Amino acid sequence: VDPALFQQNLMEWYRVHARKLPWRGAVDPYCIWLSEIMLQQTRVASVIEHYHEFLLKFPTLLALALAPEQDVLAAWSGLGYYRRARMLHKAAQFITEELGGVLPTNSVALRTLPGIGEYTSAAIASIAFGESVAVVDGNVERVLLRLTGRSEDRTAAGRAFLRSTAQELVPGAIDAGSATKPGVGRKTKQIAVGRPKRNPPGDHNQAMMELGATICLPRAPLCLHCPVRSLCMTKGEHSTFPRAKLRSR
Ligand code: ADE
Repeated sequence: VDPALFQQNLMEWYRVHARKLPWRGAVDPYCIWLSEIMLQQTRVASVIEHYHEFLLKFPTLLALALAPEQDVLAAWSGLGYYRRARMLHKAAQFITEELGGVLPTNSVALRTLPGIGEYTSAAIASIAFGESVAVVDGNVERVLLRLTGRSEDRTAAGRAFLRSTAQELVPGAIDAGSATKPGVGRKTKQIAVGRPKRNPPGDHNQAMMELGATICLPRAPLCLHCPVRSLCMTKGEHSTFPRAKLRSR
């Protein structure tokens, strides 16, 4: 697959068809972090219902860090998996006490925080800071398997293949010269430090997730509407691929 052609086809589609999700306009890394934690095990529709309300109660990372845990858990009600809220709260406290209130700005540093693993660190680093790092969730795995015609392989080698394929397809970061500079005196709110106005890696990753969620569906993919069908190895045999995954559901 030619990465430049793939990126171009995907982005043209994404610009027109992306769902207008409330966090997609966010530039505050705290808001992007919150959205990615909420989205970890929860449907987009439920996250939409709770995202704004949570931000009204805890509008900044500092406000979250200073809140009693009970209040944070109460604001999380309806989302489930409360462990995520506890870890989010702990991470906010750690950032406030140990990191000067500033969320780390790269995927490696983000991964050291409670509740942030490989997937979430890549999502935050690319969407909030423009880092050229691939996000690989279940939807993206399915897209990549079909795209390359590889059969499902849950071994370390299979995962490594998907990760390297995903990484080859991510656009490079825009040079830091065009990045927004941190505001002087902003102590409680970090606004898009290091994030370029245009954000090819962040948009690309969200477009990949969007493609998996709305077009490259598990059982009946909508190949006729797919922006990258001309580059796909499995169009046509799509609806029974990858087989192992379909059977296990
Ligand atoms: N799932 C997790 N993060 C997402 C995002 N930023 N856009 C769409 N789906 C997602």
